[in-house]
Amino acid sequence: MIILKTREEIELISRASEIVAGCQKVLIQELRPGMTTLDLDMLTETYIRDHGGIPAFKGYRNYPKSLCASLNEEVVHGIPSKRTLKDGDIIGLDVGAIVEGFYGDGAVTVSVGDVEPSVQKLIAVTKEALSKGLEQAIVGKRLSDISSAIQRHVEQHGFSVVRDFVGHGIGRQLHEEPQVPNYGKPGQGPRLKPGMALAIEPMVNMGGNGVKVLKDGWTAVTSDGSLSAHFEHTIVIEPTGPPRVLTAYAERGHVVIT
Ligand code: MF3
Ligand code: CO
Repeated sequence: MIILKTREEIELISRASEIVAGCQKVLIQELRPGMTTLDLDMLTETYIRDHGGIPAFKGYRNYPKSLCASLNEEVVHGIPSKRTLKDGDIIGLDVGAIVEGFYGDGAVTVSVGDVEPSVQKLIAVTKEALSKGLEQAIVGKRLSDISSAIQRHVEQHGFSVVRDFVGHGIGRQLHEEPQVPNYGKPGQGPRLKPGMALAIEPMVNMGGNGVKVLKDGWTAVTSDGSLSAHFEHTIVIEPTGPPRVLTAYAERGHVVIT
């Protein structure tokens, strides 16, 4: 069942999402070569708690940290560790917060220092694919219109869309119905209704779409070792027009940091 949210519930998802976006901005500002992903995790937990939220991922199905930090060939769910960031890395920063029982969830991918044009393109196309999906997140459209717009954009640019992980409904739980795949034919699935809250999150590989999960039980990496990028927004379907993008602040923070 897809749970439609009330105005009050949307405000709480929005507050949680604002913390997510503000946190990502700080992470992007602070991120530099030599830092560990554990340093970023500490910043994440501190930021979320200082702003009145609870880190959503810590303890979720025994996930050990507040941040998912996915480097290079890591697709999603990279566990923060003593691994240090290097010039030329790319990193996915996936953050979740809870405010008064409601979740916000968002991810951005940024480069650490300079990266080749082909890598910049991977990041840009993934971000654009999310925007293409958001353009379809309109009352009366069907769920797979979002999925298909994302897939189309990615494949047009010669990259591949990950199938093994999907976006999701969000609210009182991190993962609610419906699942939101990043691929598929248009015109299928439930019709979009005002008050639906969705986390839309394309994961895009430079090579093939295959992924595997490492022995830590979490870190998903590309099967062929190619680079991968991930963007995610928590949105709500509006009565008319485009969706409200609740984690949008990070849009402005998405810049190349040296
Ligand atoms: N954004 C990710 C998701 O929606 C984050 C989940 S990490 C977890 O699945 F640890 F909480 F599972
Ligand atoms: Co998510």
